[in-house]
Amino acid sequence: MLTVQQHSRLGKEILQDCNLAQLTTQQGQHLKQSLWEHGVIVVRKQKLTATQLKDFAIQTFGDSTLGRRPKPLDPEIDPDLQSPGVSILGNPKGISQEVVGKFTWVWHHDKDHLPKTEGLDMNSLYVVMLYGVEIPLEGTDGQPHTTNFLDLVEAYHNLDSQLKQQLEQLSMYHLSPISPQPGEEIPRKLHPIVSTHKVTGRKGLYLGSDTSILLGLEEKLEEAKQYWQNLFGAILDCTPVYAHVWQPGDIVFWDNSQVMHTGMPYDAEKYQRIALRVGVVHNT
Ligand SMILES: [Fe+2]
Repeated sequence: MLTVQQHSRLGKEILQDCNLAQLTTQQGQHLKQSLWEHGVIVVRKQKLTATQLKDFAIQTFGDSTLGRRPKPLDPEIDPDLQSPGVSILGNPKGISQEVVGKFTWVWHHDKDHLPKTEGLDMNSLYVVMLYGVEIPLEGTDGQPHTTNFLDLVEAYHNLDSQLKQQLEQLSMYHLSPISPQPGEEIPRKLHPIVSTHKVTGRKGLYLGSDTSILLGLEEKLEEAKQYWQNLFGAILDCTPVYAHVWQPGDIVFWDNSQVMHTGMPYDAEKYQRIALRVGVVHNT
């Protein structure tokens, strides 16, 4: 696997010296266009409360209640970091606290809620923004703390023509990666592996996470998992990974219809990480 900190398409920095809490309509449009064009964009040096981040998200992309649950304020966490619909990842209560969000340390798309949400197909434009408030000095690998991204438009174009043609014929069921309770019916949605982006019209791959089931293997879940892992491994072998190196105040936006991502482990006994996360469905 080749990892790069500069990528030809992903991770473009935009809107230098602007405050996202006071964005003009024109700047909001520029941000969206840049996101569809680049898949991952970065706005640096922000200082927002959780409510300002959420208000910006709704104002720019449209309201979405996806996964939003009101929670009582946690007295051990700064109230400015708390707002319904904004998740706090890391160890916001201090060093050695159990890390919130370890499940994000594997490759995935963030469309976990879509299979069970009525009226939204798997090609919906689900945008996630992650705001780095406290950044660990290093990851467990001793390298700078990063979130890593894989360009699935590039991945599609890197495939050999035979595999491309083969994948064009295939679809997978997507479901929430959270394990069901015994006897619980898990909602699934079918989506082609070769997917056309709703705004750009570009073709790319859509893989979901390793709980995705190839159509036809519904009764052979071990085989389905193996298929997913083999396909993903082949893609990772021929597509460079973009590692976003975090600085405090960065907000990284990604379009889950174009990229997969993985968080990277850090030592929570040594470092604190606080990141605020908001996900919205863009209304086209
Ligand atoms: Fe994620």
